Amino acid sequence: MAAMTSSARPLLNRRLAEFGTTIFAEMSALATATGSINLGQGFPDQDGPAEIREAAVRALREGHGNQYPPGPGVPELRTAIAAHQERRYGLAFDPDREVLVTAGATEAIAAALLALVEPGDEVVALEPYYDSYAACVAMAGGTRVPVTLRPDTEAGGFRLDLDELRAAVTDRTRLLLINTPHNPTGTVLTREELTAIAELAVERDLLVITDEVYEHLTFGDAAHIPLATLPGMRERTVTIGSAGKTFSFTGWKVGWVTASPELVTAVRSAKQFLTYVSAGPFQYAVAEALALPDTYFDAFRADMSLKRDLLADGLAAAGFEVFRPAGTYFVTTDIRPLGESDGFAFCRALPERAGVVAIPNAVFYDHRDAGAPFVRFAFCKQVPVLEEAVARLKKLTA
Ligand SMILES: Cc1ncc(COP(=O)(O)O)c(C=O)c1O
Repeated sequence: MAAMTSSARPLLNRRLAEFGTTIFAEMSALATATGSINLGQGFPDQDGPAEIREAAVRALREGHGNQYPPGPGVPELRTAIAAHQERRYGLAFDPDREVLVTAGATEAIAAALLALVEPGDEVVALEPYYDSYAACVAMAGGTRVPVTLRPDTEAGGFRLDLDELRAAVTDRTRLLLINTPHNPTGTVLTREELTAIAELAVERDLLVITDEVYEHLTFGDAAHIPLATLPGMRERTVTIGSAGKTFSFTGWKVGWVTASPELVTAVRSAKQFLTYVSAGPFQYAVAEALALPDTYFDAFRADMSLKRDLLADGLAAAGFEVFRPAGTYFVTTDIRPLGESDGFAFCRALPERAGVVAIPNAVFYDHRDAGAPFVRFAFCKQVPVLEEAVARLKKLTA
């Protein structure tokens, strides 16, 4: 062993050196050690529809997907993904050439970036960003260029400064990496914002990857608009979706890409050497899930909307400034009204102080200072769990 590690060279590839253990591991361990309610990581504490779980059991029993499924995904699922995009958004994709099934959205993000980014390319992404973006841009040898979403009390939530976005694009920019509804801020990009992004992409001839895993989680008047529906975008956009968030089966890791045949072929070239294929029997179950009637999606949204209000109101009552999210299942708060300014220190102390775990948004920023006072709570938990969390958080101001 010593011989293998005798050089001064670190074991971890230098591209990944800055990505140590994630904050999620640290905070989840803290939650267990202190018996705290874990509102850190975003996974539901209740499984999705029983009939979809049974569809997976049936697939296993009947031998559907127990051996390697086809590289692009089973035809039933690819057809269901295309039908879902057509039914909901009027977007037509050829299931054979324009749909690719992946091991969750995580693999879709990795494969798309590894396929499309060359060393030296710049990738413009909205900051704060989902943590795998930075790591995957690094693995591809690209350079990430963050454009910071900033709180905007007038417009509501965190908003994109379109001039800043324009200014971030250079001759080295290869692609824009967009996420709407946006984790962790809960921002849902408006048609105006998306139009500006689309115009910029067309003008500068950029590719766009858009992570739309929370497409079914929008609240009130907010509506999810897929970027690929905007003029000039269908042919230059890689759209990423996932069954995990929409159907509350995050452990199944079934995701997908929809894009032009050329883009799907490129992403598949990288994907085939990551997992090749995954989740055989679950693919059949997700095909059935995507065909569920609108009543399922409406009820899911209504349930999460209620939970959003419960947690957002509770956090406001406990003294936080709350950015009520228009989408996703996360609430971002500002801790400054509590006399705090360092989200890391606050989150490390919160289990001891109140028996609740949250995530400091700074981990999602390159400009750590810009994210310092913000803290994220997940509300994809059962109502009594959220009620108990809210009661505990009241201690902060008692
Ligand atoms: C914005 C975003 N993209 C992708 C993912 C990963 O999705 P999956 O579990 O399908 O890999 C998540 C999960 O939290 C997410 O929040």
